[in-house]
Amino acid sequence: MPLHAFQLPHRLDKKVPVVTDESTLPPGLHAQTLAVRQAIARSQYGEHSEALYLTSSYVQSDAESAARRFANEEAGYTYTRTSNPTVTSFEQRLAGLEGTEAAIGTATGMAAISLLVFGLLKAGDHVVASRSMFGSTIKLLGSELARFGVETTFVSQTDIQAWKTAIRPGTTRLLFAETPTNPLTDVCDIAALADLAHNAQAWLAVDNSFVTPALQRPSHWGADLVVYSGTKFLEGQGRVLAGAVCGSRVLVEEKLGAFIRSAGFNLSPFNAWVVLKGMETLFIRMQAQSSHALALAQWLEQQPQVAHVYYPGLASHPQHALALQQQSGLGGAVLSFDVRGDTPEARRAHAFQVINQCQVISKTTNLGDTKTTISHPASTSHGRLTEEQRQAAGVGQGLVRVSVGLEYPEDIQNDLQRGLSALHG
Ligand SMILES: Cc1ncc(COP(=O)(O)O)c(C=O)c1O
Repeated sequence: MPLHAFQLPHRLDKKVPVVTDESTLPPGLHAQTLAVRQAIARSQYGEHSEALYLTSSYVQSDAESAARRFANEEAGYTYTRTSNPTVTSFEQRLAGLEGTEAAIGTATGMAAISLLVFGLLKAGDHVVASRSMFGSTIKLLGSELARFGVETTFVSQTDIQAWKTAIRPGTTRLLFAETPTNPLTDVCDIAALADLAHNAQAWLAVDNSFVTPALQRPSHWGADLVVYSGTKFLEGQGRVLAGAVCGSRVLVEEKLGAFIRSAGFNLSPFNAWVVLKGMETLFIRMQAQSSHALALAQWLEQQPQVAHVYYPGLASHPQHALALQQQSGLGGAVLSFDVRGDTPEARRAHAFQVINQCQVISKTTNLGDTKTTISHPASTSHGRLTEEQRQAAGVGQGLVRVSVGLEYPEDIQNDLQRGLSALHG
């Protein structure tokens, strides 16, 4: 029998009844509930776990309907570079948590920052940014953006007067901060920066990847735009890359939504689904990992081989009170520490030794995982910066960064103790 003559199996889905739309949640729910529940309506199959729509395009009922949808005259999905139901669920959940009108998913955290700056700025615009942020963000704002005629002035993250002085009235369109910063956990006063930005008719964008909306909502403190590397705590288990920008409908849905359709920085539906499911445990992870991190930071402060510990939850952190106020009383799950050594070379060798002795902690640069990770920022996440940029960011050769996970805390402490003991105080 020729292949095409085989009888097709009976279609099982012909008469599936439409399940009532249970997606409409009552108003006033806590963000912790939204992290678990907020999503688009269930399909006609009534799936309990959110559906993964792994499709690049959508079948239209007729050419007229396709034309109306492509012209934005009719609601409906057309092509996944414009939107996708699983990505919409992720965006709705994140916007619900952040308390913003809209969110847009992107392929990575850097895609989110790229979408923001390329989608909102033009040649001749000026940006004021923190000089102690993640290395690729400094590279993007300082070098790549300059090729398109947008200049960035970098200032001390914590010196509000420096931000004020750097603003060029009429030209500065964006203030960009990360709080806490990667890797030194500098904390900025979001409300004070928002005031500065708004007095200058500029936007304030805040990278909230380190503490997530489970602990801190920058929009609540006045930020216009909030960016995420979803790769980190939002996802929580180091499986996929993702990013997002949150903000008002006008900025995010209209401006950035129109731009992403041309630019193609989109989040894949599969990755959106993984992060969406990860967010259901976000609050409990952030609380548990923050408490493990605080215990580890307090222990590290007592170690003679450690010169300094950077962690917002420590009373010794310069912005401790502000951090607790902005971050729901918790320090987050990332800390850094400087190991002692007489020269930069000795400090680098000591940092490498501590990292190399780890048998439980993963030697990897990602953070925000349930598995504790350890890295040497000067040669990895901040390795592409010039020595001058690295010094300005405060990233020395003796600096070690730890993203604290969910293992039994004493096992992690013992793992670090091994390397530190080998340094002989
Ligand atoms: C604070 C911060 N923002 C943005 C990024 C970039 O995220 P992604 O790796 O998802 O592009 C990172 C990555 O480490 C980060 O730590």
